[in-house]
Amino acid sequence: MIDVDGVTCRFDGGATGEAGGVVAVDDVTLSVPDGEFLIVAGANGSGKTTLVRTFNGLVEPDAGTVAVNGAPVSDDLVAARTAVGMVFQDPRDQLVAATVGADVAFGPENLGLAHEEIDRRVDDALAAVNMDGRGDDRIANLSGGERGRVAIAGALAMEPDHLVLDEPFTGLDEPARRSVLDRLRDLRATGTSVIVVTHDLRDVLGLADRVVGLSTGAIVVDDAPRAATETLPGLGVRVPGGFDRLSANTGSGP
Ligand SMILES: Nc1ncnc2c1ncn2[C@@H]1O[C@H](COP(=O)(O)OP(=O)(O)OP(=O)(O)O)[C@@H](O)[C@H]1O
Ligand SMILES: [Mg+2]
Repeated sequence: MIDVDGVTCRFDGGATGEAGGVVAVDDVTLSVPDGEFLIVAGANGSGKTTLVRTFNGLVEPDAGTVAVNGAPVSDDLVAARTAVGMVFQDPRDQLVAATVGADVAFGPENLGLAHEEIDRRVDDALAAVNMDGRGDDRIANLSGGERGRVAIAGALAMEPDHLVLDEPFTGLDEPARRSVLDRLRDLRATGTSVIVVTHDLRDVLGLADRVVGLSTGAIVVDDAPRAATETLPGLGVRVPGGFDRLSANTGSGP
């Protein structure tokens, strides 16, 4: 469970850094139960990335608290970062090693796992992003979409309790996107909570249990997917046409 209670995040405004700049997240309260597939949607600059970065302490709230599995994030950052895996919006912020295999193994190695377990996780994670057998490829030679896929594989290999993916589908081709979506569906079924940040719901709405919409840092939509499609376009979020054809888990209304 991730419990967000009254979280506000501010950034200083402008080059002078005067107080009272941007309120990126504005008094957000939100609980994400284990096994929930949650979409966090909203226009550019609505606070999505800042909010999810409080889940593992990458951003420290100016007010309010975040607890993961019952423990305040600020009490134990290592525990929070082990429990909450994160795929960054920009893979350049995430990739650390020279080769694909070394990069995906980096997190599991830091967990001190046995070699066989690390190898299993790396193979498994690379398969999930359609990069089987690419472990020796140099990161420097990968395309943008391939880098995004390695970043996703790195987070999958940690096998976290909660997985946050910040705009994961940008630049992914259709087979990779389908493969990642299949893996997210499997993870959810085994009790992992999956939190996808996006301003384009076409890929993920059919998988989601719930959609939270942000506007200028505040939650203005918190609803089942079908109901959320009514309100989200007003927030600058792209929703799929023909939603009825998608296999939504929940929904209300006609
Ligand atoms: N490090 C920072 N310093 C100053 N302002 C910031 C910083 N990070 C974010 N902001 C501001 O906070 C607000 C929310 O930014 P955030 O990145 O959370 O939005 P987002 O919803 O993820 O947008 P996008 O869809 O473009 O990724 C924006 O106004 C942004 O300019
Ligand atoms: Mg963002």
